[in-house]
Amino acid sequence: MKKLIAANWKMHKTYKEAVDFINDFLKEDSIDFEKKDILIYPPFLYVCEVLRLLEKTPIKVGAQNAYFEKKGAFTGEISPVMIKSCKAEYVLLGHSERRHIFKESDELIRKKVISSLEEGLRVMLCVGEALEERESSLTFKVVESQLKLALAGLKDYANMIEIAYEPVWAIGTGKSASPEDASKVHSFIKDILKDILGSNTRVLYGGSVNPKNAKEFLTQEHIDGLLVGGASLEVKSFLDIINAY
Ligand code: PGA
Repeated sequence: MKKLIAANWKMHKTYKEAVDFINDFLKEDSIDFEKKDILIYPPFLYVCEVLRLLEKTPIKVGAQNAYFEKKGAFTGEISPVMIKSCKAEYVLLGHSERRHIFKESDELIRKKVISSLEEGLRVMLCVGEALEERESSLTFKVVESQLKLALAGLKDYANMIEIAYEPVWAIGTGKSASPEDASKVHSFIKDILKDILGSNTRVLYGGSVNPKNAKEFLTQEHIDGLLVGGASLEVKSFLDIINAY
C-alpha cells in the first residue's frame, strides 16, 4: 500500500506564508511520488489558491472540515459542494479539535461524512481516545464506537474513505504514542473496517509526528501514512518526514 503523508495546517499561516510554503516546497525535487502520496490541508481560505499552485503536481489538497448541508443560510459554514467545486479531493472530518473544542457529536460527524461522500470527496475520518479513556483501558472501545457511528452502512463508499488514528493526548503535546502501540490500534481499526466497509483502507497515524520519529511509525506493518500538524508548517521538517522512509 502506498504511504500517504498529510499536512494539517490547522489555523496557521497568513495568505503569504501559505503561498511561500507551496512555492518553496515545489523547489524541492526529492520526493518519490511512486512510493508515497502527499496531501495538504490548508485553512479553507487558501484551498483554491493552493490547488492552483499545485495544479501540475501529484500533490493532493483537502479541506479541514465541511458542513453537511449542501447550501443555504448557514453563515460561516462551508459545504462539500463548495469544496468539490474548487477541485479539492479530500475532506478531513471528526478531527479531535472539532470533537472537543467545537463539541461535534458522532451524529454530526456522520452527517458530514455522508454529505461529503455524496459529493465525491474522499473522506479522512479521524478517531482516537482521550487520556482518561486510555488510562481506563477504553482505547479500543472508543475507537470502535467512533468508527461504527460514523461509517456503518457506507460500504458503497468504501474506496473513498481513509482513517487517521490520532490519540487525543498525543496531538500537539510532543508526546507521541509508541509506534508499536499505535500499530496495534491500527490493526484493530482495520479489522473493524473490514466488518463495516468490507475493505482494506489506509490508516494513518497522527499525534506529535516529527522528523525524528516518522520513520519508526512508517515502518510499522499497519501504519499506512501520517497526519502531521505542527511539524508540517515548515517546509524542511515536512520534507524530512516525507523522506524519512
Ligand atoms: P500534531 O497534530 O502533529 O501537531 O500533534 C496532528 C493533528 O492534529 O493532525
